[in-house]
Amino acid sequence: MPEVHKHSHPNLFWLKTKDGSTRLATINAEPGKKVYTERLVSKEGIEYRTFDPHKSKLGSAIMKELQNFPFTEGSKILYLGAASGTTVSHISDMIGVDGSIFAVEFSARSLRDLVVVAERRQNIIPILADARFPEEYSFTVPLVDVVYEDVAQPRQAEILKDNVQTYLKKDGYFFFAVKARSIDVTKDPKAIYEEVIKDLESAGLTILETIDIEPYEKDHIVIVGQKNV
Ligand SMILES: C[S@@+](CC[C@H](N)C(=O)[O-])C[C@H]1O[C@@H](n2cnc3c(N)ncnc32)[C@H](O)[C@@H]1O
Repeated sequence: MPEVHKHSHPNLFWLKTKDGSTRLATINAEPGKKVYTERLVSKEGIEYRTFDPHKSKLGSAIMKELQNFPFTEGSKILYLGAASGTTVSHISDMIGVDGSIFAVEFSARSLRDLVVVAERRQNIIPILADARFPEEYSFTVPLVDVVYEDVAQPRQAEILKDNVQTYLKKDGYFFFAVKARSIDVTKDPKAIYEEVIKDLESAGLTILETIDIEPYEKDHIVIVGQKNV
């Protein structure tokens, strides 16, 4: 039998499996079903899904001791760059049936896979749209508690600022995965991070923490912050 321990963040767990390895996990909101290559592990009538930090920047940031954790029961989240729903599905597990994830993705191919996941999970609302144009989804996205962005685009910071400005409620949080090489392959990643942080601060956003997510991803940081005005 695996050992299960609560993580200090809500609705997250550590699973210690027979081979002695310890893995992050969430409770599977759709028992028996996988979303990607995660493992399903049952204990005392509860099914857990391992949360692979190599496949999710949220998973990587948690492994690197993310302190601010705004993904709680009932949270409303705008997720930019949802892809086929790997990280979205774990957030879906954590926020429960009273929460909602408005999952924006501009690749029709990825969105098709995401729609399959969303058909089984009522708290995911897939949206085929371009995050550079936040007004494209104003018909369906309300003010949210969290803006999550992982788009790997040159204009990552602009996209974040525009969406935060439009959809994030006051004192809401943003979780921003910055990929240095998408912004400029020729520059030192550290210089890029400094510029991005300055840019967000000059837009009036508060930076709460920055996390380098190596060894899970090279040349990426996660910035977590708040909109206080
Ligand atoms: C690194 S992948 C995201 C992985 C995903 N966040 C996860 O953890 O499961 C980046 C995704 O952002 C999408 N994307 C890039 N630019 C976008 C844009 N302007 N609007 C919407 N989606 C975008 C890409 O199609 C791709 O699926």
